[in-house]
Amino acid sequence: MDSKKRAGLKFGSKAVYYAPDKATRSISAPIITSSSFQYDAEIYQEVVEGARESVNIYGRCGNPTEYQFEEQMAVIEGADACLATASGMAAISVALFGLLKQGDHIVCDWTTYSSTHEMLDHRLTDYGISTSFVDTSDPEAVRAAITPSTKVLYFETIANPTMKVSPVAPLVELAKEYELILVCDNTFASPAVMRPLEWGVDLVIESASKFIGGHNDVIGGAICMKSERLADDFLEQIRWNTMVKWGAPLSPFNAWLLLRGIQTLEVRLQRQCQTASALADFLAGHDKVSQVWYPGHASHPQHELAAAQMDSPGAMLTFAVADSESALKVADSLELAAFGASLGGVRTTVQIPATMAFLDISPQDRLEMGILDGMVRISTGLEDPEDLIADFAAALIRN
Ligand SMILES: Cc1ncc(COP(=O)(O)O)c(C=O)c1O
Repeated sequence: MDSKKRAGLKFGSKAVYYAPDKATRSISAPIITSSSFQYDAEIYQEVVEGARESVNIYGRCGNPTEYQFEEQMAVIEGADACLATASGMAAISVALFGLLKQGDHIVCDWTTYSSTHEMLDHRLTDYGISTSFVDTSDPEAVRAAITPSTKVLYFETIANPTMKVSPVAPLVELAKEYELILVCDNTFASPAVMRPLEWGVDLVIESASKFIGGHNDVIGGAICMKSERLADDFLEQIRWNTMVKWGAPLSPFNAWLLLRGIQTLEVRLQRQCQTASALADFLAGHDKVSQVWYPGHASHPQHELAAAQMDSPGAMLTFAVADSESALKVADSLELAAFGASLGGVRTTVQIPATMAFLDISPQDRLEMGILDGMVRISTGLEDPEDLIADFAAALIRN
């Protein structure tokens, strides 16, 4: 099938289609684990002349299985190109270090993934790159933070743990007006729920370790691009000048697991979203729960915006009980859902944001981000929704 026809397919068809492998006619992608590739004189000459993209050289520079993952990711995100990385954090680091230099400034949402926040707030400052943290759901606050040195505007489609949704269209307009590169971490949504490149975002980051892999068994990342403001070969440039130099490639086996995960992404998300919605309704009516945050619930401050810009409200929700002690008791009492790190897999996982992911953030900053001590964050999996609700009901009673 030619690429134009493929681009016109619906999401589920794009995700499962794979052009048969040229060497074996296999309809699923083979794993090529080789770390080194043999040159002949012609290939050697291509390398010398700098036409390196089409040439397999050494595993740290890329690998055929990883390239297959990049191709599938680009198709499902609606991207012109994709660069795979060893993890979601590697994708964020490679993208930002590829975009920025000393003296540059970033405007970033207050509520990003904790390691992202830490990197912007501390690590990038060591290299003379500063960040203003604002609420990106308020475009006027974003405008007020832009300075002549601002190069990047950064936000998450659904922000952890309040599930805040920022309005993409006004952020795209601001990026155009001030010639900024708009970068969006789409991990909590996944491309099955939202494709920010279709709205005019320049670069989308995915922690593929989450919904894309989908089985709690792989770490990987991707940077996807469709941009009028970046050079067409921007991702190739940062593949060579940043990703390869930092040594952050996706391993062939992880690329293969992720290729497998992409094929079921849409159906997993459909079921996970239905379960999240049922669980949100149950929790909102429970007398030990003070608040629920789910973009699909009418009480969510950006409920209408989420419906307008996302295909579905996603599979991430948060609820609050009285305090951190109660949150720990509830999380620890669950028997079907797992109390642990990460999200996006077939098992429902819960986390306590204040004392887990955001532990390194100061209590004052946590409050500014809207993070309460009694919050419990849920990533719904593929368990039967009735069994899952019964698990949460029992845990709340035991608390
Ligand atoms: C929103 C978000 N972005 C990025 C990351 C980092 O991804 P990884 O763990 O694959 O490095 C995470 C990890 O939890 C995340 O939740």
